[in-house]
This record gives sequence, structure tokens and C-alpha cells, in this order.
Amino acid sequence: MKHEHRPIVTVTRRLPAPVERALLAQFDARLNADDTPLDAEGLREALRVSDAVLCAVSDRMDAEVLAVDPLRAQLLANFGVGFEHIDLATARRRNIAVTNTPGVLTDDTADLAIALMLMAIRRLGEGERELRAGAWRGWYPTHHLGRRLSGKALGIVGMGRIGRAVARRAVHGFGMRLHYASRTPLPAGEAAALDAVPMDIDRVFAESDIVSLHVPSNEETRHLVDARRLRLMPPHGILINTARGDVVDEAALAEAVRDGTIAGAGLDVYADEPRVHPALLALEHVVLLPHLGSATVESRTAMGMRAFENLVAWSEGRALPDRVP
Ligand code: 8YV
Repeated sequence: MKHEHRPIVTVTRRLPAPVERALLAQFDARLNADDTPLDAEGLREALRVSDAVLCAVSDRMDAEVLAVDPLRAQLLANFGVGFEHIDLATARRRNIAVTNTPGVLTDDTADLAIALMLMAIRRLGEGERELRAGAWRGWYPTHHLGRRLSGKALGIVGMGRIGRAVARRAVHGFGMRLHYASRTPLPAGEAAALDAVPMDIDRVFAESDIVSLHVPSNEETRHLVDARRLRLMPPHGILINTARGDVVDEAALAEAVRDGTIAGAGLDVYADEPRVHPALLALEHVVLLPHLGSATVESRTAMGMRAFENLVAWSEGRALPDRVP
């Protein structure tokens, strides 16, 4: 799409300064100075008045929003790799292209999955809460015993970029044994290097000490972790979710931890963010982080620059580097 004038790009949230500077230099960028999230009407207005919108996970671009009339926007450059908050069918019907930012947040999200494993298995959140509450009575040999992460069996569900990055850390850093379930099997070389055993997803739940989720949110993965699958896990089992909240039946997870079906969980994502299921909030053995997987200066800047590159390609009429099908 060649433009006579600088294209208008609405940026729905505040982004790292280098990204905002790049956007201002290249486009008629409408920034969100105070970072107030746009409501449905705000999103519709952005689609009415802008040539492109740089949006994020907090913007629900559903069928109703995308049905806006008149429509000016031709591109949704999403800040983030997951795009379940965008109704792709409606976007396609309305000739709005969608891009995402794969690759640049892989390492940080994988690091966070490992952090959650350590926090959950070593009961670190509980320890910190105890100390801050002034309840620490001093050292003793049986104080607050967790379990060892090293050498445990890790089950990975979804061996995409992030799943593989978690696998490398787990195997090479912590000597963990690896089981996995994935639509696409690992290439032979990588599977051999990780000594990774592909198996049916139910077996992954049954044979792993820790299960870590790395699948996108879609019709097929909704409540992939339900009460039945949780019951397959051993009683010392821990579930880690850095993917999307709706992949897990949160009520079933809370019940499974409460009644001892599994030992705990480490979560970074929730079905209805920022709301956290109250039954999860009540559980000491569940680590709860506020969607921080990619929250580093490095990742967030790279994500913004990747969205920027997609906008530039679109404005110059070139193929979009990260077009979502
Ligand atoms: C982002 C994420 O923080 O990329 C994703 O899919 O979940 C996170 O890295 C968020 O989506 C930004 O929009």
C-alpha cells in the first residue's frame, strides 16, 4: 500500500521509548500518552480514523469491533505473538491484515517458565510471603521444605519456539528428563540432543513431575487441561502455564490443588485477565504472576520494533514479514 501522506497509525498502549520514537519518525503515529486501555468504542474509533493500528493483548478486536463502519484501517500490527484476541475471520472478511511478533520474546518467556517451576517446586512465594508477614522465626532443618527441580521429568505440551527453549534450559541447565506432546514433532537432531520422548498428551500428564504448557489459545486447546487430565498427574505434580489462561480449566485446577490431586501450579496467564479465579488466589501452593512472560526491556523493545517493521513493510507495499494467516 503506497501512501501519499504519512499513514496514520494508532498505538493503543505505551511502548518502550525507542519504539515510540521510531513510530513518530516514520508515521503520523497517534500515541497513547497516559496508557489508558481503549474500550470497544475507542478501538472502533481507532479503526475508523487510522490506516493501521498497533494493538496488544489487552485490546479485544472481536467481530463487533471489527464490524465498524466506515472502516479505514488495513493492518493490525499486534504487539505480541499470541493473537487470540483478534477475530481473524472477521479481519480477513474486512481486508484487514494481521501481523504478530514471533521469535523475539522466546528466551524471556522460557526463562519465566523455568522461574515458575523453581518458585512452585521450592515454594519460594510462600517463603517470601512468610518473611514479609514477619512470621519467620529463624532457621531450622525442616523449615519450609520444597522439592528438587534438577533431574525431574518435565512434560512439555506444544514444542514450538518457546517449548523448545524451555526444553533446552530444562535438559541442559537442570538435567531434567523430557517428555513432550506436540502437533509437529521435533526435528530428529534436536530430539536426539534433548533426549526428548514424544508421546500422547495423556501420557505426558501421567509420566511427568512437571507439565509446562506452550500451545496457542484456540478452539482446540481450550480447557486442554481439565479435571480428567489433572487426575492423570502424580500427587507431587506441578502445572506451569505461560501460554494462555483458557488452555486450563481454572476451576478444575484450583480444585485439583486444593484436594491434593496435584501439588501445585505456577501461572502467568489467566482466562479473564486481569481477573484471577478466586479459588486460585486462595491457594498457597499456586504461584501467580501478572502476565510477565515477555516483560523485559529487551523483549518489549524488540516486540515493538518487530511490529514497527511490519508497519513499514505494509506502508511500502512490501510483503508482511510476520503475517498471521
Ligand atoms: C505479551 C504474550 O506481553 O506475546 C504474547 O503472546 O502473551 C506477551 O508476550 C502480550 O501478548 C502483549 O500483547
